[in-house]
Amino acid sequence: MKKILILDFGSQTTQLIARRIREQKVYCEIHPYSTPLEKIKELDPEGIILSGGPASVYDSDAPLSDPALFELGLPILGICYGAQLMIQQLGGKVEKAEKREFGKADLAVQFTGGLFAGLETSPVHHQVWMSHGDRVEVAPEGFEATATSSHSPFAALRHKEKPFVAVQFHPEVAHTLIGTDILRNFIFGLCNCQPDWTMHSFIESTVTAICNKVGTNKVICALSGGVDSSVTAALIHRAIGDQLTCIYVNNGLMRIGESESILRFFKEKSKLKVIDVEATDFFLSELAGVVDPEIKRKRIGLGFIKIFEEEARKLGEVNYLAQGTLYPDVIESVSFRGEAPIKSHHNVGGLPEIMKLDLIEPLRELFKDEVRELGLELGLPEEAIYRQPFPGPGLGIRIMGEVNLERLKILRQADVIVLEEMKKSGWYRQVWQSFAVLLPIQTVGVMGDGRTYENVIALRAVDSKDAMTADWSKLPYELLGVISSRIINEVRGVNRVVFDISSKPPATIEWE
Ligand code: XMP
Repeated sequence: MKKILILDFGSQTTQLIARRIREQKVYCEIHPYSTPLEKIKELDPEGIILSGGPASVYDSDAPLSDPALFELGLPILGICYGAQLMIQQLGGKVEKAEKREFGKADLAVQFTGGLFAGLETSPVHHQVWMSHGDRVEVAPEGFEATATSSHSPFAALRHKEKPFVAVQFHPEVAHTLIGTDILRNFIFGLCNCQPDWTMHSFIESTVTAICNKVGTNKVICALSGGVDSSVTAALIHRAIGDQLTCIYVNNGLMRIGESESILRFFKEKSKLKVIDVEATDFFLSELAGVVDPEIKRKRIGLGFIKIFEEEARKLGEVNYLAQGTLYPDVIESVSFRGEAPIKSHHNVGGLPEIMKLDLIEPLRELFKDEVRELGLELGLPEEAIYRQPFPGPGLGIRIMGEVNLERLKILRQADVIVLEEMKKSGWYRQVWQSFAVLLPIQTVGVMGDGRTYENVIALRAVDSKDAMTADWSKLPYELLGVISSRIINEVRGVNRVVFDISSKPPATIEWE
């Protein structure tokens, strides 16, 4: 497949570069800056982008790419650190700037071709976004400045004969208003790519690849009701039909109605084979008396593996396990290397090893919004596609303290009110997640003439792009008021509602 290769030097916006390029219907992959030259040749890209990064090129431990990269005859675009590295490796000079440039800057473009083709120039100013403390002082032989800013005499450069271009600013961020034009000029103008990577072509090539890999063997897939597993199942089903069996484990910790609608769709409309296992009692007995969040997570995770394995064994010989792993989980990101997990996330981790199954991960190359686009193309219902993320351990980690039937009943009723009101007001799709949390403490209230002593519900709504960081959503007071009075009036056992105004970090999105 034709592609652009992005070498990652640890910038927080490396994934954004990939997103912007794929939006142009050109496929691209992110690999670590240290990827060996041989591997790069194997990947056979049409062009290479060197990302930004936090280091300085003159640091003794600065991350370097193989200088032989510049002898491959491929177009190369350096961004920020990547630009400085290109300039230094080709014989120019980079030094600490007297003034750091951070944020919006004015770019004066002098050159009407290359990256700036089709843009108004000399002396038109364009808004770009800068974030650097070093700058290019001397261009290497053969290079010339194509744009300047007030603090960067070389805000953009090009080689006069070779297809090497560099920008000190970040074309991938929205504040660089000409960013898309610049990336388009690189991929279409310099690299001669074609905009032919569409969801339709993705489905065709993936279906063929799955058929070739699976042959006449059997595949199983754990359906959770979430977007990723639903799209994975639909795509594999398109490829191999009845050779796929899905297993849905009802752990009793789901929201009202959430998984039922997608299950109904799969069973009735798409004729997918789904084994629907009712395991509420088992999970509740596993959780009886458990208060510690990590133990809860582990019990739910292990319980899932046990039941899934039992069901899978009944199917006879199965060779593959399908998983909805997405691209952000696959990228060997330079910046996040070595980070310790904060919570043990439960998906289907551990299953492939225990069951000695090979993995099929057809979404490995996709970002979340691409998965949604794919789901729509495969005909999945819109409400399932635009569903907010829901954690594997479900409501189990939204009930503080012990999980039992009575508490689940209270939380479900409150949660459904939150969802109804979020949808009715149009806020559901504007936030990343919105849900209720049940606190195991009683507070005093007054209802009618009597004193009450009942539970507290916390309302959590957050804005986020990738769940790595999040801020609390600024929901209107009217909406908060409606949700609160509906919960207190309609849900027996709750007399107080509070709104969580913590961001992540230092809090997390879920309470456990
Ligand atoms: P936290 O609470 O860590 O959550 O800020 C980040 C995102 O991950 C979701 N989440 C999970 N998803 N299995 C999942 O599939 C899990 O065990 C799990 N725990 C948290 C959470 O809802 C949020 O979107």
